[in-house]
Amino acid sequence: MITRTLDLDRPSDARVHDYLLGGGSNFAADRALARRILAAAPSARLDALANRDCLRRMIRTCLEHGVDQFLDLGSGIPTAGGPHEIAPDSPVVCVDNEHLAATQGELLLSGSGNAAMVHADVRDPNAVLAAEPTRRLLDLDRPVAVLLFGVAHLFGEHHHPAEVIRGYTGALAPGSFLALSHLTDEFAPQQARDLLAALPGCPPPALRDRASLMSSLEGLEAVDPGAVPASDWRPDATSEDLRVTEPLSFALLARTPGRPNSPGS
Ligand SMILES: C[S@@+](CC[C@H](N)C(=O)[O-])C[C@H]1O[C@@H](n2cnc3c(N)ncnc32)[C@H](O)[C@@H]1O
Repeated sequence: MITRTLDLDRPSDARVHDYLLGGGSNFAADRALARRILAAAPSARLDALANRDCLRRMIRTCLEHGVDQFLDLGSGIPTAGGPHEIAPDSPVVCVDNEHLAATQGELLLSGSGNAAMVHADVRDPNAVLAAEPTRRLLDLDRPVAVLLFGVAHLFGEHHHPAEVIRGYTGALAPGSFLALSHLTDEFAPQQARDLLAALPGCPPPALRDRASLMSSLEGLEAVDPGAVPASDWRPDATSEDLRVTEPLSFALLARTPGRPNSPGS
């Protein structure tokens, strides 16, 4: 589903997330929900920031392995710290189905020759891969890094998340990457339960565990250290301030087979 109007009375994932990251593209209803989330699950803000920082490290890892084009699915509003800033010389296509994220993204990226926004539902890989900005900016004959951060838990089982992911990884050149983060109740079960209880009236996120998600990614090879809390994924000096003691999500970088060399582990 794609939202084509700005409904200020209903919170949106993109704007709640923007609030958690300290952004200014959110409204009263978004802030009210974000505050409810933080009251129930105090780790939520640090977890969101740690995820963002983990995405930075994963993008750098992709670049180190020669993969220098990015498809950011469920990008949210492409503000500071987005892939277009982490890899400014690389082609980046951001995709979001939310009205404000898409329209603001179009404006923010309009001056860039190598980044663009697609207003689409990421559960439709064919539409995303066929969109004009995708075809113009990404060379699908070369490996692409697909970024799926903070999105797949919004897909219920009836949305067949594994099939959606395969719709991308199966269509891309061998040696492409999948960078993913996902809400879970594995590390902080009580906070995760409280988080769900704070979302009455909202579609509840699916709190999958690492084993079930990994088993649905057959054919992909996890890059060391596998699926771990975002702040534990190859932390560097910057990550120290973002260590989450009760993580609400895990992160994973995996690669499609068929390349000549394995990524360093
Ligand atoms: C929690 S935010 C994550 C933003 C960003 N990926 C990050 O990790 O910082 C989830 C984003 O996914 C978007 N989203 C959710 N379902 C989507 C769908 N089916 N198609 C496209 N975007 C979607 C939301 O609008 C929101 O911007």
